[in-house]
Amino acid sequence: MFKEISTMKRSFMVLALAGGSLSLPASAEMDTAYYNDHYCTTCHGADGIGSEGVQAPRLAGMEPWYLKRQLEHFRAGMRGMHREDFQGTEMQPMAAKLSDESIAELVAWVGSWEYVPTPVTLEGDAEAGRALYASCSSCHGANGEGSPTLGAPALAGQNDWYLVTQLQNFKAGYRGSAPGDTYGAQMIPMAASLADDTAIRNVVSYINTLGR
Ligand code: HEC
Ligand code: HEC
Repeated sequence: MFKEISTMKRSFMVLALAGGSLSLPASAEMDTAYYNDHYCTTCHGADGIGSEGVQAPRLAGMEPWYLKRQLEHFRAGMRGMHREDFQGTEMQPMAAKLSDESIAELVAWVGSWEYVPTPVTLEGDAEAGRALYASCSSCHGANGEGSPTLGAPALAGQNDWYLVTQLQNFKAGYRGSAPGDTYGAQMIPMAASLADDTAIRNVVSYINTLGR
């Protein structure tokens, strides 16, 4: 019964959308959220500020070129396919069915969200981390602002627990080792240069001090 109703509603919305009106009233926009690809906030948090519970990082404020590439890489199975990459394999099916048009639309939509500073959840030795970060700044920038030219994303302002997981995953080869992932592959030796989890926490603690 529920299914029938939602199917009916869906056909109605599809018809309404096919009418060509892009300026839907707010309530209609809420309804269509279930019928387009705007399910991201379910995991990435209201306003895309990230959700530690789901381990889905902040999207608000993310560089459009980086967001686009990650969605394409998840879709192509270049990211989120390693069976030990638990968080990545949660995200991969979310991107698997996106079209190019849908990705472009999502990048514009996410781009309209306001950046909100992420909370610090990590305790580490930021001073020790500063020295470690010296080898990161050539690509990610002295202030963790990222480099579009080098394809290295901003690190400042991202959820610290997420940065830790990514460094662990690069180090273990769960991310960056898929054929064709040339950007991710660059990170494997960089993460490998961080001796252990303490070093990872320290460098991320230092990144936490970089304002955005
Ligand atoms: C079922 C929960 C879930 C949904 C729904 C979801 N994601 Fe994710 N997403 C995740 C998780 C978990 C990660 C972290 C993956 C990792 O640790 O490698 C992630 C990672 C990402 C990343 C990588 C961020 C980075 O810094 O590299 C992007 C981009 C992303 N998601 C975009 C989206 C978009 C856009 C949508 C909506 C179309 C979406 N996600 C829907 C769970 C989800
Ligand atoms: C040679 C350039 C280069 C250096 C040096 C480098 N990185 Fe990266 N890093 C990249 C690129 C390129 C990516 C994007 C990978 C992708 O597209 O999947 C990245 C991604 C990351 C990510 C994932 C961000 C996200 O949102 O998912 C983290 C975390 C990271 N780098 C941390 C570091 C740290 C810490 C260091 C120093 C120990 C470092 N990087 C050194 C190029 C570099």
